[in-house]
Amino acid sequence: MTGPLLAVEGLHAHYGPSHVLQGVDLAVPAGGVVALLGRNGAGKSTTLKAIMGVVRPSQGRIAFAGRPIAGEATDRVARRGIAWVPETRAIFPSLSVEEHLTLAARRGGWTLERVYDRFPRLRERRRAGGATLSGGEQQMLTIARAMTTGPSLLLLDEPTEGLAPLVVAEIEDMLRALKADGTTLLLVEQNLAFALAFADHVVLLGKGRVRWTGTPAAFRDAAEARTWLAV
Ligand SMILES: Nc1ncnc2c1ncn2[C@@H]1O[C@H](COP(=O)(O)OP(=O)(O)OP(=O)(O)O)[C@@H](O)[C@H]1O
Ligand SMILES: [Mg+2]
Repeated sequence: MTGPLLAVEGLHAHYGPSHVLQGVDLAVPAGGVVALLGRNGAGKSTTLKAIMGVVRPSQGRIAFAGRPIAGEATDRVARRGIAWVPETRAIFPSLSVEEHLTLAARRGGWTLERVYDRFPRLRERRRAGGATLSGGEQQMLTIARAMTTGPSLLLLDEPTEGLAPLVVAEIEDMLRALKADGTTLLLVEQNLAFALAFADHVVLLGKGRVRWTGTPAAFRDAAEARTWLAV
């Protein structure tokens, strides 16, 4: 395959009368990490939802592994190898950690043993019920569950939001391990320090459009880009 693993071009999306995405372009190379930044309401989550087929794009192209996927149903997009970790962690209170990890599993995805070897905390907590997990454990489980579906691209929506610094560091380690393992990541993140340290490339959204794009190093020096982040 030539070209990026994921290519989004001229993506538009509406919620009723409100025109939330107004021509978003972005590309994620295989094995890369792209950080999608922007202040509240910029359209970050909607971009992930449009890729995932949760929100239907009104215009634009989305290509995954060279094939057009815009407008496809979510389960079909998932079967192509894209997993989405939404802002809401979607843990079932009455299911155990292990039940979560077997529920969505697909051939080619991470096995239970692989999850437990990589994330020993989940092995320790394998029999714990969803309702008893800490916020950090829930986030870890949500990411691990996504890996059991065998994605080549993981869309992460604010995985460190609301977590204590020590737990944030654990999630960061987890994401670095996924990257080292060859998983391609499109990461929406409010934690600017982590996003800039971890990503290869930054895409900054403002009011539904890409306002700036470049490397984390260039972002640090780009005063005009930062105005799109300031509250
Ligand atoms: N289901 C919905 N119905 C109507 N409007 C929505 C819906 N979801 C989001 N919006 C609006 O669309 C715009 C973009 O929302 P989106 O959730 O994509 O932003 P975001 O960049 O993820 O913001 P945040 O940082 O707060 O998560 C916002 O103005 C939001 O209020
Ligand atoms: Mg959001």
